[in-house]
Amino acid sequence: SIEFVGAREILDSRGNPTVEVEVILDDGSEGRAAVPSGASTGAFEAVELRDGGKRYGGKGVSKAVLGVIDQLGPELVGYDASEQRLVDQAMLDLDATDNKAKLGANAILGVSLAVAHAAAQSAELPLYRYIGGPNAHTLPVPMMNILNGGAHADSDVDVQEFMIAPIGASTYRDALEQGVSVYHALKSVLKKQGLSTGLGDEGGFAPSLPRNVAALELIATAIESAGLKLGTDIGLALDVASTEFFDAKAGTYGFEGKQLSADEMIAIYEEWLAAFPIVSIEDPLAEDDWAGWSGLVSKVGADVQVVGDDLFVTNVERLRRGIDEKAANALLVKVNQIGSLTETLDAVDLAHRAGFACMMSHRSGETEDTTIADLAVATNCGQIKTGAPARSDRVAKYNQLLRIEEDLDDAARYAGASAFPRFAA
Ligand code: PGA
Ligand code: ZN
Repeated sequence: SIEFVGAREILDSRGNPTVEVEVILDDGSEGRAAVPSGASTGAFEAVELRDGGKRYGGKGVSKAVLGVIDQLGPELVGYDASEQRLVDQAMLDLDATDNKAKLGANAILGVSLAVAHAAAQSAELPLYRYIGGPNAHTLPVPMMNILNGGAHADSDVDVQEFMIAPIGASTYRDALEQGVSVYHALKSVLKKQGLSTGLGDEGGFAPSLPRNVAALELIATAIESAGLKLGTDIGLALDVASTEFFDAKAGTYGFEGKQLSADEMIAIYEEWLAAFPIVSIEDPLAEDDWAGWSGLVSKVGADVQVVGDDLFVTNVERLRRGIDEKAANALLVKVNQIGSLTETLDAVDLAHRAGFACMMSHRSGETEDTTIADLAVATNCGQIKTGAPARSDRVAKYNQLLRIEEDLDDAARYAGASAFPRFAA
């Protein structure tokens, strides 16, 4: 059972404070977890508790840390750590708000994940197997974000993330190697064209480009120059993060210097889909433009994965609406959007039962914590996005997946193109 819960303030990959939690059980088992943080956050996300004031520009998390030490910890002492659902419910009851505003989703999530790590150690199982059981065996396609724009870069590129999906590889290890070769080839392509090779928040290159479509063209060139085939070896994927450039008052999207309607945005996506082998589009429309989403899915949903991030915020209520209205066909899964492991697993479960795909995801602000790599395998979700294959905050997760693939040995199965049934068919 849980004997001790401690917490501290550490730094994330952007140099902002975040919460780290340690849990110790009475059998000596220990678990530790650190909490990520977004930049292009959805309005419906659970609340991240920040101190305000002068320290760390107001971004300190000492209140969240104190909440763990003084309130959450004492409440949980004596709980069986393997009763994750009861542990998480006890924290929700103690917070007693809809959006974890009192104690903070950052405090609650840190404890939730650290408890899972401690329980896994106590059970002498790797985390992915402790959570996923004997059927957890699918290595996800690494959706590598090699060109950063939007809120993650200092450029004029509207689309936040241009990802590559190595769908043709037969193992995760080979997929990662292919991704790295494209990443390095892209650097050479950018250099040759006199474009910046500086990096954005998720480790991808962040050049200024005349049009968004130029990013797709540059990546296509990089794939070919790496000796790989666009479409069969490597698919493309986007996170438009369009809420960031949506003007809610006018109801228009500020894209490439123009104010566009949802229909005009959809027309642009249809052009891109016709010209490039795009397997997945995330947040193509704004977080409350439900009609726009349903319109897009009815047009292209049979051919491409349409992923709700800010739309769903890993929240089963919002996901249920999306399923009913056919507003998407995939869920982006971010543990800190909802703030507990139990609720995260509930969202994945609901998505899968509705025939939605799931993509496990990091945040743009990350730490060395690798929990999401294990969650991707535990849920057999087949897809993970955790940035470029560079920078330790991103690579830590990709490296953990190498360890898991090795641990699974002959039982390991790489999802590959099957992660995108619409594309594979
Ligand atoms: P964020 O970006 O972590 O800054 O929200 C990631 C995403 O939008 O998927
Ligand atoms: Zn997103």
